[in-house]
Amino acid sequence: MKRVCLILFGALAVFPACDKPLDENQEDGFNGKSIVVYFSNPLPGVDAVAGASITIKDGQKYGSVQYMAEVIKEETESDIHRIMVEENHYPTVYRELADFANAEKADNARPKLTSNLTNLDDYDVIFLGTPIWWYTLPMPVFSFLDQYDLSGKKVIPFTAHEGSGLGGAPATIKAEEPHAAVESNGFSARGTQTSSQDDAIKSWLKDLGF
Ligand SMILES: Cc1cc2nc3c(=O)[nH]c(=O)nc-3n(C[C@H](O)[C@H](O)[C@H](O)COP(=O)(O)O)c2cc1C
Repeated sequence: MKRVCLILFGALAVFPACDKPLDENQEDGFNGKSIVVYFSNPLPGVDAVAGASITIKDGQKYGSVQYMAEVIKEETESDIHRIMVEENHYPTVYRELADFANAEKADNARPKLTSNLTNLDDYDVIFLGTPIWWYTLPMPVFSFLDQYDLSGKKVIPFTAHEGSGLGGAPATIKAEEPHAAVESNGFSARGTQTSSQDDAIKSWLKDLGF
């Protein structure tokens, strides 16, 4: 039976974990150049505000995935690339964004990207960061996976969420990029807690050999 894991309390959405089997570990041996590629679409508001996912650290505002991406970039001395869609593509009110994103998922849409990664060939390792939207990757991340061929590369997922954890990201990415080596040991953190995850991120990177 399909597990129902969305509970809405008024405007505040809580997403209990929906564990899915993850992809098997792939062979390692990728020591080349790395890049952090991420999508982040923070909503106005901070921390406990319903639907908000902005993190503040040292006076700077970050989306939660954006924050993790910056930590990984610094720690691994990677390059960084943000997956972008047109500026007004998504509503800025949580309930409207939730409905819009749900419709995009139902349509299996591929929103047009305004970002362009021209030197993908330079990289062996891609840290791929994403929020979980409706239990999976937002459709712009599918646009990215459609647009770029990650065959032969190591792809290491990380997610921000409010209960769904990795949301099956490793398996989903593997399905989209069957010839990439997708790490099953991805990192995930609640969006409202990302600014306290530096040590956990560094420890995870160390476990992966970075
Ligand atoms: C449209 C939408 C759908 C979401 N769906 C889920 C979900 O299915 N599971 C979950 O755990 N969190 C869900 N969330 C919460 C986000 O994953 C979380 O707020 C995340 O920190 C956003 O990252 P960002 O600030 O980098 O965009 C959803 C948020 C939005 C806006």
